Amino acid sequence: MSAGTGIMSDMETVLITGANRGIGLALVSRYLAAGNHVVATCREPDLAVDLKNLQEQSAKLEVLPLETTSEAQTRQLVSRLSGRRIDVLINNAGVMGGDQQELQNMDYAAWLDAFAVNTMAPFRLSVALLDNLLAAERPRIITVSSQMGALARQSKGALIYRSSKAAVNKTMQVLALELEAQGIIVCPVHPGWVQTDMGGAQADITPAQSADGLYQLIDQLDASKSGRFWSYDGSEHPW
Ligand SMILES: NC(=O)c1ccc[n+]([C@@H]2O[C@H](COP(=O)([O-])OP(=O)(O)OC[C@H]3O[C@@H](n4cnc5c(N)ncnc54)[C@H](OP(=O)(O)O)[C@@H]3O)[C@@H](O)[C@H]2O)c1
Repeated sequence: MSAGTGIMSDMETVLITGANRGIGLALVSRYLAAGNHVVATCREPDLAVDLKNLQEQSAKLEVLPLETTSEAQTRQLVSRLSGRRIDVLINNAGVMGGDQQELQNMDYAAWLDAFAVNTMAPFRLSVALLDNLLAAERPRIITVSSQMGALARQSKGALIYRSSKAAVNKTMQVLALELEAQGIIVCPVHPGWVQTDMGGAQADITPAQSADGLYQLIDQLDASKSGRFWSYDGSEHPW
């Protein structure tokens, strides 16, 4: 039995990218605490001290390498996971896009990089893992996006970050429609403003609070909620 309150009672297998720190690491802890099997990916498993510590406490945690923008590494990961069921894929890895993202001071190389990490990589991995997801009873593809990508919010600055998150929202909306017939639930989510390296110490909530909210949200997702943008607190977020 999962410790969640959701629809599925069996232990699930959850794959989380960018799992070595921040929200990704907190998600790993949350899913392990609920008794699930977790495949945590990160760029440098050998340096992922916190994941190693968690592995000492739990046999249900696997740590595998993945630089999410690498097609070759994505292929290697998929081949290692061949024949295995994945119930939940959480595309969490993301970047801010550097500190030159203003009108007269734009880092175009960083913009391309942010699109590679924040927009294209979640799509590539989702499609690459379709066979694994199709083996699940209630497959879910979750992409950690941001309210900063919402067109409904009118805010200035952070153009690189905002545009890459707006683009991944649209990408996931389309993917949800494309995968509807196969029963795969696809949702972008806003994790809150979270105290991580990215969010800063002054942010609203801890990684554990964000991960707990996301865990409850993801646990409750069904087909009727696919293709919609959700917040970690369970509310629907305007696009
Ligand atoms: N913190 C917030 O307030 C907030 C708000 C809204 C949305 N988000 C989103 O939440 C997600 C997690 O953010 P966070 O706050 O936990 O950020 P974080 O502390 O900066 O952690 C980012 C994670 O992404 C990984 N990553 C970055 N580029 C990668 C790549 N190319 N391949 C593989 N992994 C990569 C990092 O790995 P390395 O350690 O190897 O760099 C790290 O594990 C991001 O998508 C972010 O945009 C955060």
